[in-house]
Amino acid sequence: FPVENIRNFSIVAHVDHGKSTLADRLLELTGTIDKTENNKQVLDKLQVERERGITVKAQTASLFYNCEGKQYLLNLIDTPGHVDFSYEVSRSLSACQGVLLVVDANEGIQAQTVANFFLAFEAQLSVIPVINKIDLKNADPERVENQIEKVFDIPSDECIKISAKLGTNVESVLQAVIERIPPPKVHRKNPLRALVFDSTFDQYRGVIANVALFDGVVSKGDKIVSAHTQKTYEVNEVGVLNPNEQPTHKLYAGQVGYLIAGMKNVIEAQIGDTLYLHKQPVEPLPGFKSAKPMVFAGMYPVDQSEYNNLKSAIEKLTLNDSSVTVHRDSSLALGAGWRLGFLGLLHMEVFNQRLEQEYNASVILTTPTVPYKAVLSSSKLIKARRAVQKNMIFIDQNRVMLKYLFPLNEIVVDFYDSLKSLSSGYASFDYEDAGYQTAELVKMDILLNGNTVEELVTVVHKDKAHSIGKAICERLKDSLPRQLFEIAIQAAIGSKIIARETVKAYRKNVLAKCYGGDITRKMKLLKRQAEGKKKLRKIGNVEVPKDAFIKVLKTR
Ligand code: GTP
Repeated sequence: FPVENIRNFSIVAHVDHGKSTLADRLLELTGTIDKTENNKQVLDKLQVERERGITVKAQTASLFYNCEGKQYLLNLIDTPGHVDFSYEVSRSLSACQGVLLVVDANEGIQAQTVANFFLAFEAQLSVIPVINKIDLKNADPERVENQIEKVFDIPSDECIKISAKLGTNVESVLQAVIERIPPPKVHRKNPLRALVFDSTFDQYRGVIANVALFDGVVSKGDKIVSAHTQKTYEVNEVGVLNPNEQPTHKLYAGQVGYLIAGMKNVIEAQIGDTLYLHKQPVEPLPGFKSAKPMVFAGMYPVDQSEYNNLKSAIEKLTLNDSSVTVHRDSSLALGAGWRLGFLGLLHMEVFNQRLEQEYNASVILTTPTVPYKAVLSSSKLIKARRAVQKNMIFIDQNRVMLKYLFPLNEIVVDFYDSLKSLSSGYASFDYEDAGYQTAELVKMDILLNGNTVEELVTVVHKDKAHSIGKAICERLKDSLPRQLFEIAIQAAIGSKIIARETVKAYRKNVLAKCYGGDITRKMKLLKRQAEGKKKLRKIGNVEVPKDAFIKVLKTR
């Protein structure tokens, strides 16, 4: 393929504005997939994506399209829409020269429309606005055109109005891709320079790296070097994604495809790495800013004997999702495990679900927390910062864009859900990191009959300590079995008790149901009770079953 007949582009949109549906139509129109009912969301390959109807991983597909006697190669890189995955979006954009910005003709510009537009704009890509769902009864494409002109400064006549669902006007989207997006600027005669923009792990074939070639050519049998590790590999397979892997003899600069080179290890396949030919070193490509985790949670195997299996599952999945950070951790109650960092709450849930579905792992996930920096000085005395309004822009008469500075902890757990329900689903939300701010935070202890439960120590905002402490005490009360004496469950800040629950005394008589004198049965029951006790942890005189910790620490 001559470079001038190649286009690399991405589709970006707010969640549910129809990106995947448009991708499916483009695949059908170019004959990449057959037009059947079963082809819904072809690029959403993961089970979790199909179940939740969201895109999590960016996927790539090469489309062939004939236009005015010329054949074009259009590389479509799908991207996720949810805030938690914007890291995937910026990564995918590094392999593109243009984007289709899909906007729902009824909902208009939403939070991630704005966020995605600026990602593309900063990467200096051509932006083609596509107004989708014009078939809807309440569709108002003219209003959306005006919004686009006002907010993004794109002339309204550049908008393409389509119905991805019905296929209306989708052909003109392909035309615009060819006319408005420039071909990649690459040099085939130069030595190979390939960017690893994504990688996945296959149980049998090892690492499959998705690459965008900026310079040169790569063929099966070539010796390549990773700029990051300086390790040399032999290329076993190269090919294009159609959208399934289809081997080819070579990949040329300007193309996007995959490469398998016997990389077996997680660390070997760094996303953002540059690959070059052995003995022909090149200046590495800029790579990517590493994603910054915002939400942290502990992860433990349900059974410690599963530790090694879970470890390998986490390693493989983090290869597929390098935005997750992993540190070894251990808990008195839950044993050896990890502390994982995620980009957001949905990201955490999806990771957990993928571990269960794709790797058959069963895990305990603890309540998520956000990072704090503690400064040991009087500056804690400064008044806590609540949400501060930064600016307000009217997109049109009906829609306003508000910018606020929030403590991350306030938005991380249920803010998005509350915002959606308060606004009857009309409001949308996106966020970016604004750095650390001072706040009045306190360390809260949970006590059982006066003894601290180390597993449950948390850092909370002073104003929320009471309600959070109360909730933890209540959950603990519900999951602690009664014992021979009364148990006081308390939440405390320093020496001050801020919440209390009581578990009444009770004697569990395991023999109560044994009438008559079957001594072997009695012995068996007593033995079982003794074994059960081994799984308990003693805090002072109070016995806490592992299960109780799980109930308090778990998110769901
Ligand atoms: P994420 O992958 O989560 O970002 O969502 P998405 O942007 O890919 O949206 P998707 O393609 O899954 O579409 C969301 C919903 O809108 C689905 O129920 C589609 O059937 C529907 N939809 C997409 N395009 C159209 C359209 O042109 N008209 C109508 N009426 N519905 C559409």
